Amino acid sequence: MISNEELLEKLANGFVVETEDDMSEDYRKLLVQTLTITADTELISIFSILDALQYVPTLNRRITELAIIQDELGHAHIAYRLLRLLGVDTDYLIYEREAKDFRNPYLMDLKLNNYAELLTLHALLDRAGYVLLGDVFHHTSYGPWKRALTKVDAEEGFHVRNGESGLRAMVKTAAGRQQVQAAVDWMFIMGLDFFGMPDHLKKRSLQLDFRLKGETNDQMRQRWMKSAVGFLDSIQIQAPVHWDSESDSYVTDFPYPCEWDTDQRRWQLDRPVTWQDVLGRFRTHGPYRREYVEILRRGRESYLALRGGGVA
Ligand SMILES: [Fe+2]
Ligand SMILES: [Fe+2]
Repeated sequence: MISNEELLEKLANGFVVETEDDMSEDYRKLLVQTLTITADTELISIFSILDALQYVPTLNRRITELAIIQDELGHAHIAYRLLRLLGVDTDYLIYEREAKDFRNPYLMDLKLNNYAELLTLHALLDRAGYVLLGDVFHHTSYGPWKRALTKVDAEEGFHVRNGESGLRAMVKTAAGRQQVQAAVDWMFIMGLDFFGMPDHLKKRSLQLDFRLKGETNDQMRQRWMKSAVGFLDSIQIQAPVHWDSESDSYVTDFPYPCEWDTDQRRWQLDRPVTWQDVLGRFRTHGPYRREYVEILRRGRESYLALRGGGVA
């Protein structure tokens, strides 16, 4: 392994990191952290989609959702495989780690209540994934991930378009429009959370120095809002943010971050909280995380039992 200074100098000259020998200890640590968050997010995201299949109205649309689940598993596989290349025990991560130690965002630990929420998940949250991983795709100094993200980028684009086309059809009826607006009301704010701490609360970012990402959290959050609001405007659905010409940016219509009421499953817009509170909510995770991780474990157990019986 090399020193941070040595690596930073090489990166400034366009160096592409390929193996562990090319990395500094801090670089490897940050890469493992980022890949773990990505892998966990992709993997745990499939469970709420799987559960929401019951709400999908047509066979055609159901097949599309199954294709999306398959894509997300592929994306998780890419990130876990890269972790394995870095010597991380991925069997432990997936099948033995405590549910509380998974690193996915809070939203993935919930269940969706109707088809409008599933489509909104695709139109808004896959869009957040598209922005976050698109940033890695275009800027990362880690060659193996950059190459693998060609596939992920294209597929996330498809997930977003699927959500958009479904929502466009749904808002044509008054009842559908009402459901879509209700879904956007709470899920848009979950989308804001995806981008993490605001820049002014962050220490100087080694991730940016190492080119593990190219844009700051706030830059990506703004890019996502612009894109999401653009789409929502086109179907005349309100987002809880507006353009502020003074700061030249999108700002929320309420004090953000604010409190999430787990039991009522809605935001308390009049109750501001700190980012420490938000991170605390992420750490205690959502109500279905345990159930989702349990499904993974049971799947592995039945696979091993089959294999033990000489079937596989
Ligand atoms: Fe994905
Ligand atoms: Fe996706």
